[in-house]
Amino acid sequence: MVEVLADIIDVLADPIDGTDLAFGDSDCSTLKSASGHSYDIARQGYVTLAGGAGLRYTGDDAKMITAREEFLSGGHYAPFVEAVTGNVQDVLDDAGVAEDASPVICEVGAGTGYYLAHTLDGVANSRGVGLDVSVPAAKHLAKSHPRVGAVVADAWARLPLRDNSIDAITVVFAPRNAEEFARVLKPGGQVVVLTATTGHLGELREPLGIIDVERGKVERMIAQAEGHLVPVGDPELVEFGMNLNQQAIATQIGMSPSARHIHPEVLQERIAALPTEMHVTARAYVTRLGRPCD
Ligand SMILES: C[S@@+](CC[C@H](N)C(=O)[O-])C[C@H]1O[C@@H](n2cnc3c(N)ncnc32)[C@H](O)[C@@H]1O
Repeated sequence: MVEVLADIIDVLADPIDGTDLAFGDSDCSTLKSASGHSYDIARQGYVTLAGGAGLRYTGDDAKMITAREEFLSGGHYAPFVEAVTGNVQDVLDDAGVAEDASPVICEVGAGTGYYLAHTLDGVANSRGVGLDVSVPAAKHLAKSHPRVGAVVADAWARLPLRDNSIDAITVVFAPRNAEEFARVLKPGGQVVVLTATTGHLGELREPLGIIDVERGKVERMIAQAEGHLVPVGDPELVEFGMNLNQQAIATQIGMSPSARHIHPEVLQERIAALPTEMHVTARAYVTRLGRPCD
């Protein structure tokens, strides 16, 4: 696992001052920056790269990560995964990344690494940085793919990545920091964002008492990126049906913020009152964003 961090050390930077990071000792248990800050590598293979004040967020807890792992392993979101990977391949083609290059793909808010692992499988010789503020997520990330280096970091802080170092960034239902993305992308690099849209999981909203995705979410995301990133082409709608049994529905809700807002017993009762299998719609937009000057 430390070997994977060695593969991406050339893109990692000190979260405090942006200086380069290198292995700090012969047994490879720390990363040390050119300015002297030291960061321990956990025995599970991830490294926490946070500034002096530490992490302001904890991200998804272990229960949510386990639910995410179980739901995604059912393959229900395969069309989303394909869409993200396909867009990353297009980004690299458009940027003219050579066949024999080793492009770096960073997923921000990478969760269990399910999407990033699939994308790395779709791009020969690629290297992955899985970044998440959640420690339980990082433990999964470190095991998710032989080419994923797992980093605990806050997407809203200075990213622990060097300027102009990343070929493509993916963000799947996770926070977006346009200013930092613009800083770390290589010229020609782009961000691929998957954003849930109104009607996503629509059939479950009323019976389970979960709120719908607000209208205009993609437009707001594009407006927030203004000054740093601009859309490349039109957002692409990815919509498909899933047949979910009650266990799959329970894990779907368990991995989402709704899990925090409804009492577990109430949620269990509502799920038990559903048909044994339901047809549920998945809807999200894939948007590509690039630097205005590229
Ligand atoms: C909805 S999950 C999506 C996970 C993954 N992209 C997927 O779709 O399977 C959002 C992820 O973003 C992470 N996250 C939330 N706030 C974050 C922050 N400020 N910085 C980095 N990651 C964050 C959470 O821990 C969680 O893993």
